[in-house]
Amino acid sequence: MGLPATFLWGGATSAHQCEGGWNAGGRGPCKRDYMTLDENKNRLLTYIDDAGNHCFMPLGSGSQLPEGAHYAVFDDCLYPDQEGVQFYNRYKEDIALLKEMGFKVFRMSIAWSRLFPHGNEAEPNREGIAFYKDVFTELRKANIEPLVTLWHDDTPLYLDEVYGGWQNRKLIDFFEHYANTCFEEFKGLVNYWLPFNEINNVLMFLDMFGQNPTDEMFRAAYQEMHYKFVASARAVIAAHHADANNQVGCMICGVPFYPATCDPKDIMLSHAMWEKGILYSSDVLCKGEYPTFAKRLWREHGVQLDITPEDLATIKAGSVDIYTFSYYMSSAVTTHSSNDIVGGNCTTGVRNPYLDYSEWGWAHDPLGLRYFLEKVYAQYKLPMMIVENGLGAVDTVEDGRVHDSYRINYLRDHILEMKQAVENGVNLIGYTSWGCIDLVSAGGEMKKRYGFVYVDRQEDGSGTFSRIRKDSFYWYKKVIASNGEDLR
Ligand code: BG6
Repeated sequence: MGLPATFLWGGATSAHQCEGGWNAGGRGPCKRDYMTLDENKNRLLTYIDDAGNHCFMPLGSGSQLPEGAHYAVFDDCLYPDQEGVQFYNRYKEDIALLKEMGFKVFRMSIAWSRLFPHGNEAEPNREGIAFYKDVFTELRKANIEPLVTLWHDDTPLYLDEVYGGWQNRKLIDFFEHYANTCFEEFKGLVNYWLPFNEINNVLMFLDMFGQNPTDEMFRAAYQEMHYKFVASARAVIAAHHADANNQVGCMICGVPFYPATCDPKDIMLSHAMWEKGILYSSDVLCKGEYPTFAKRLWREHGVQLDITPEDLATIKAGSVDIYTFSYYMSSAVTTHSSNDIVGGNCTTGVRNPYLDYSEWGWAHDPLGLRYFLEKVYAQYKLPMMIVENGLGAVDTVEDGRVHDSYRINYLRDHILEMKQAVENGVNLIGYTSWGCIDLVSAGGEMKKRYGFVYVDRQEDGSGTFSRIRKDSFYWYKKVIASNGEDLR
């Protein structure tokens, strides 16, 4: 049967991980601009307290600065997201490389604070609008469809500091205004939109090791998600109103949960993880209503939420057109004690003895992708798109070449299983691998690379930002040209 001729092959990035130009063109700051790393690769926010001391704060859910403190950049610290990989200055060269690979679609995000430096202005920053118009026009010239995320973990800092971020209902209005501005300004250039990246990961992070979440942390996570659900629904309604050709997707961090043993208690634990991690958000975004088990989840933590009847009506009216998700790995969970704990994309579980693991401990599980596709498609029957998938690995440049056969193997294995899911009836419309051009990892590391294009930017901040085509570049070009038939 094969993939449809219209299949959207491409790659994905986000603004704060690749754009750079953090204080250029009138852009306002976001928290990511103040994130450095300690010697153990933990991410820290840097700030000055009311007595003038230089301070560091580890990242954590809802981390707020002490009274009288303000975020600050220290000369002796490195801030990888501030420069990204300079897409801001090099986008023409980058888009030419994507075109050379034959991309049909390119997923990127708009930095909210490039359009609205504080997040709450009435009028957008024209320089920011002009930048994205140029990028989208360049993509169109290359016959590449833009797929645009509106929020990829980069709320304008002002909204965090003055309004308390997504704990404040007012953020819904600010986001709606920003989304509307995008739909109007970029009409005719962009038709595929994703309001929020991995909207479910706020909740999933809480179950990661070392968090010991309190009931208050759960309340904050559920509240933040509710406001984002309403903001997403308002964006869907506005997008459809602005242009009947607009298609809007949810963006779910897609982790299939497996029971580590056949103990019925493990089966029920993995079932509960699916409910909380995946289905809770997916139901709201795709069916337009909270699932039946939502009240039980809130009760578990004594959570009282600010949810109005108008919110529920908005959510009902603003369900998405496409089910989009990221997939890197599966997670095995158990009620039995284990010393072999492994972490990964927003999850913690036990080592699965049937799988191999990457240098960063992420499971290599192509069948998990097929399982996720088939299970979720049966549930929602919406067109699906994989908008992140890939292998984070250390690459070495030898005589100007990068021989990344490990990346080719990972991608081939996943594409084969995705094709199986299509054979089995899943309506899959596209695939964008993550970090198609090397970019700063979410953890701030530069050595964890995903791209088909190598960027000369090193862990210590050195490098020229020049681009090199990896072996996977030529491989992916063949894959696209043959519509997924030639995977050798
Ligand atoms: C996803 C995020 O969770 O995983 C990306 O949407 C992120 O922003 C990607 O980069 C891979 O994670 P990491 O930590 O390897 O960069």
